[in-house]
Amino acid sequence: MAVSIFFTVLIFGAIFYFAVRYRRRSEQDLPVSVHTGWALEIVWSVIPFGLTMIMFGWGASIFFRESRAPDNAMQIYVVGKQWMWKLEHMEGRREINELHVPVGRPVRLTMASEDVIHSFFIPAFRTKQDVVPGKYSTVWFEATKAGKYHLFCAEYCGTNHSGMIGWVYAMEPQDYENWLSGGASEGTMAQNGQKLFESLACVNCHKVDHTGRCPSLEGVYGSTVKLVGGNTVKADEAYIRESILNPQAKIVAGYEPVMPTFQGLVTEDQVLQLIEYVRSIGPKTVPNAAPNSPAPADNRTPAGAAPAKR
Ligand code: CUA
Repeated sequence: MAVSIFFTVLIFGAIFYFAVRYRRRSEQDLPVSVHTGWALEIVWSVIPFGLTMIMFGWGASIFFRESRAPDNAMQIYVVGKQWMWKLEHMEGRREINELHVPVGRPVRLTMASEDVIHSFFIPAFRTKQDVVPGKYSTVWFEATKAGKYHLFCAEYCGTNHSGMIGWVYAMEPQDYENWLSGGASEGTMAQNGQKLFESLACVNCHKVDHTGRCPSLEGVYGSTVKLVGGNTVKADEAYIRESILNPQAKIVAGYEPVMPTFQGLVTEDQVLQLIEYVRSIGPKTVPNAAPNSPAPADNRTPAGAAPAKR
């Protein structure tokens, strides 16, 4: 603001000053020819260039810092559809158009859409992120004050877009624990993912002991996977999702492209559960937040185990 105001005043001041100072005073008044002053040209090019580069570097560093969730962030999954928000906690607690979060703990949302573009918007948290079909988007925040806050869809998504609203409840950590343990739980996300893994017969090929026709998924999450053709890929949520819905896109080195697509057979919610299962059998340290930042995952619940005491 200060820089903008300074240059606005300077430029407009100069325009008015010169317009008056060098106005044409008579018909015979002809201006003298002036040659380019190179020193002046360079000065008024280099200084603004330097200023904009400072702003660019500064802004980019803030952008990157804001984009990466802290490593200790807890994970919550969001699915947007016409016209509701479906949310699922790792512990298996589900909610619709309501989100309960603890105060003082970073929360990372991984979000998918079942149909069209939505936008997850919590004005009080200064948090807004498009939720786009066919990919995951993530956003993170840390509630600082207990209370009830508006949740909106901020992208026109059809007739009842204006009704795609809800509430975010920021709770004291103990209240949150109580809330989380209350209510009927149908198992953790990882447990439900494991059930799907078995009922969809994934387990027949992805055998733990590497005797199956497809790679074992133990320890895959967060690792670097070698692909046919020599490329590698980071086994993150997007990669696992793609491997479920479009298995031919990336073939693991040493394996045949035999896996059928599960497009249309699993919902976005189920894909997230499968990912949570693969994550739960991942290595002991996984990149919980952004790719390339390995960190202990303190909030994982191993499949088949009781929900972790925290
Ligand atoms: Cu969803 Cu607007």
